[in-house]
Amino acid sequence: MTDRALADLAYDMLSRSYVPYSKFPVGAALLCADGTVFTGCNVENAAYGSTICAERTALVKAVSEGHRDDLVKLAVVGDSTDYCWPCGACRQMLYEFAPQLELLVGRGDREFTKLKLSDLLPHGFGPKALT
Ligand code: THU
Repeated sequence: MTDRALADLAYDMLSRSYVPYSKFPVGAALLCADGTVFTGCNVENAAYGSTICAERTALVKAVSEGHRDDLVKLAVVGDSTDYCWPCGACRQMLYEFAPQLELLVGRGDREFTKLKLSDLLPHGFGPKALT
């Protein structure tokens, strides 16, 4: 799958976002080594802190379907002027399963930039730290 195709799957998810409070839709698409893609969107809640981000929606879908050690690349996009950088909680959750994860981070004009999770979360705290 091309980076553009993965990013476009994330953009398709913007319409599924449930964002009555922030009005800030985010879409995500998580590619596994076998080509499986898990998509996600942000889902907000009247108790604001119960909101789940788009990336974590995609991640928990993948892990709950048995994809844990084969996560390759994540596209996360917003309908925003700036690139939609993953929040700290999402960086941490992704690091647990895929410290080497590649990222495509997109903005509202459908441009995206490519980098690694380790660029955004160097020296992350992960499972190995507990051994
Ligand atoms: N949001 C995400 O979905 N992912 C991020 O990494 C940043 C923030 C969502 C959460 C909330 O619904 C909205 O963007 C505004 O914070």
